[in-house]
Amino acid sequence: MSDGGGGGDCGGGFSGGGDCNGNGFYGGIIYDTGSSSSRPDGKRMMRIEGGSSIGSTLHVEIRLKRGVTKNDGAGAKDLVRSYLLDIGYASNNTSLSVSERPELTNIVEKVIVGQSSLKDGQTVTFTETSLRDGSAKYYLYRLKRGDVIAQEVSANANDEDHTVGSHQWELPNADFDDMWENLVFEDNIKNELLTYVYALLQIADKGLDSSILTANRVVLLHGPPGTGKTTLCKALAQRLAVRMNGRYRNAIFVEINSHSLFSKWFSESGKLVAKMFEQVCELLEDPHCLVFVLIDEVESLTMSRQMAMNRNEPSDSVRAVNALLTEIDRIRRYPNVLVLTTSNLSDSVDPAFLDRADIKRLVPPPSPRAIYVIFLSCVKELQRGGLVDPVIGLLPDPWRVGGSYTNASGELSYRLLKIAEKSVGLSGRTLRKLPVLAYSKRPLDMVPLDEFLDAMEAAVSEQFGDCQNAGHIVNGDSH
Ligand SMILES: Nc1ncnc2c1ncn2[C@@H]1O[C@H](COP(=O)(O)OP(=O)(O)O)[C@@H](O)[C@H]1O
Ligand SMILES: [Mg+2]
Repeated sequence: MSDGGGGGDCGGGFSGGGDCNGNGFYGGIIYDTGSSSSRPDGKRMMRIEGGSSIGSTLHVEIRLKRGVTKNDGAGAKDLVRSYLLDIGYASNNTSLSVSERPELTNIVEKVIVGQSSLKDGQTVTFTETSLRDGSAKYYLYRLKRGDVIAQEVSANANDEDHTVGSHQWELPNADFDDMWENLVFEDNIKNELLTYVYALLQIADKGLDSSILTANRVVLLHGPPGTGKTTLCKALAQRLAVRMNGRYRNAIFVEINSHSLFSKWFSESGKLVAKMFEQVCELLEDPHCLVFVLIDEVESLTMSRQMAMNRNEPSDSVRAVNALLTEIDRIRRYPNVLVLTTSNLSDSVDPAFLDRADIKRLVPPPSPRAIYVIFLSCVKELQRGGLVDPVIGLLPDPWRVGGSYTNASGELSYRLLKIAEKSVGLSGRTLRKLPVLAYSKRPLDMVPLDEFLDAMEAAVSEQFGDCQNAGHIVNGDSH
């Protein structure tokens, strides 16, 4: 299915006990996770144990270079540990450059240290104690570079007509690389979800009764289009695949192609859904394989069911969606599956989906600071390529200096922050297009940074003007 280099053979750090922490992740869960509370339906809820000591576990993800053998890789952990001790601290969940450590450059491609109780970008400090086994977990892995596989299905065995039912990637995959790092949120949604979902998988893996502890392993992310929901699902799966590679030999990400399953031959949809899930079940039969199933934009499926039911005419669409719900119930009996769903319309999600979700989390449009960080990453990339003059670097956090900057870097950073404030309401997808649009207005060999910011400001105004002219709500841009 892909090139060699399985994660599991490198030995991972999954060692029970877990790092799940309950810190602060209450807002988005349908049912509270308090210890003695109960659900409206009378079932007991899952309690995620945690505290600062557990949340402060350091997760050290070490990506080995292609072709590095298991034996070569075995020494990487100690080398990375002494490297971290030497540098003393790093930004949470940010790639560390190993280019100045010759002993590492031959075997290690990338090191990322994550601590769940901190937000991304906050400082993580390294000490002998915090890097000790037990306080820290080390994961060695290699990226899979195999192509995405399109799985075809047909309603009947001798059908000539096939449709693509799903796309599958082996994880951790090069296609999903950097997704996590590039997603910026004001709150700690990424790490909160990561620890919560890790806990769900662990509960299933221990064989605990999921009717006593409600843990369906179904996650629903909802919010306006272009806020990063689909990307977050993929990024989460990638991280979990790395962090569970000591427990599972393989990890597969299956993206259900709901649009074609539900529209191509509507009368056959129910059968197609069942066939497609048969393929997923085949993967799940292997207890050493961790499977992530993404059903994107579930509202399109559930709305059709609702509309048909309202008209009191049960139709193919109702049958197809019912088939989907039945299949979700079937696959979540396997402990090695996590179902990720997204919806752009929070209000239109079928109650049947809501009922199954352990977590229903709103993903809001980016805040001014998050927008600044998104813009900053784009400007840095343009500077790296020499399209924008790199002589002045922008600050990572100009809100700290406020208006009292003392040099050009502070002044321009503060200006970009003001542009970010003006951009509130635009989706993450639109925000990432703006720097390209701005550059296209001044396609010089190397645009001075201040001129580039002029163009950015104009591009933002234009965007709002366009949206108003077109009568769109600004963050509801279509895609
Ligand atoms: N919060 C965010 N931070 C950084 N980039 C974002 C964010 N939200 C969206 N994006 C950008 O927009 C693109 C589209 O996001 P996507 O995950 O498809 O959104 P959604 O599924 O919510 O419609 C992403 O690839 C990413 O580049
Ligand atoms: Mg999406």
